[in-house]
Amino acid sequence: MLFEDVQDVIYPKSGYKGKYDVSSRYYHLIMGVFEIRPNTEVLEIADIREDEKVLDLAFGTGWLLNKIVERTNTVVYGIDFSEGMCKVSMENLERNGNLDRTQLILGDVLSMPIKDNSFDVVIGSFILDLLPKNQIKVALEEAKRVLKPGGRAIFVSMTKKGEGLLRSWRLIYEMMYPLWPTILGYRPSSRPIRLSEEVANAGFRITKSKITRTNFFPFPVEIIVCKKEADS
Ligand SMILES: C[S@@+](CC[C@H](N)C(=O)[O-])C[C@H]1O[C@@H](n2cnc3c(N)ncnc32)[C@H](O)[C@@H]1O
Repeated sequence: MLFEDVQDVIYPKSGYKGKYDVSSRYYHLIMGVFEIRPNTEVLEIADIREDEKVLDLAFGTGWLLNKIVERTNTVVYGIDFSEGMCKVSMENLERNGNLDRTQLILGDVLSMPIKDNSFDVVIGSFILDLLPKNQIKVALEEAKRVLKPGGRAIFVSMTKKGEGLLRSWRLIYEMMYPLWPTILGYRPSSRPIRLSEEVANAGFRITKSKITRTNFFPFPVEIIVCKKEADS
């Protein structure tokens, strides 16, 4: 297919962390257009028990953190490398009275300052699809490392899967992808990836999967629940 080969993201030489610091103040608008619907479904499919210790990878504005805190009686952890996002998350958590129930880590999902086998549940929503291809595997390995044996991970990303209307919208997205810097002066980083293959290749056992879509435009999104096998 003509536009099937958007394999990798292209970032400015300066890197892309600064972009999230800048966008942190209006990122809730992007969330509203794209991410709230799939993230709401994540909460249903994740089925978090109140005693589980949870880590949210790349928590952004803290939307999921707030919801997870309400479902657990433990301290909920999150990691994000953007100081701007940390600040906005802290404000959102404080507004909801949840700040003292969370532990935010300013750090990189590719190399987390977290001990092995620490968490029952790791959630990574709209993070794998914005990493360069060679870093997706690294992030998955890190997620597996910090999960307890038998623990589960839930990953969400834009996906190459999806039929009919979803497929058409994906092709539109992929077609537009190289043009966005010219049209918008801004390149959204996420692009559709083969999430289930990446997750399986990293040694997780997939237990549930679902194809859904972003809120406003029906771009296909994949949600995967997978397990770290007790012997891995
Ligand atoms: C697309 S947003 C997703 C936010 C949130 N998970 C959600 O679903 O709304 C991406 C977030 O990933 C963070 N991020 C990107 N690369 C990262 C990395 N290598 N380590 C830690 N955080 C990262 C950004 O700072 C930003 O907050």
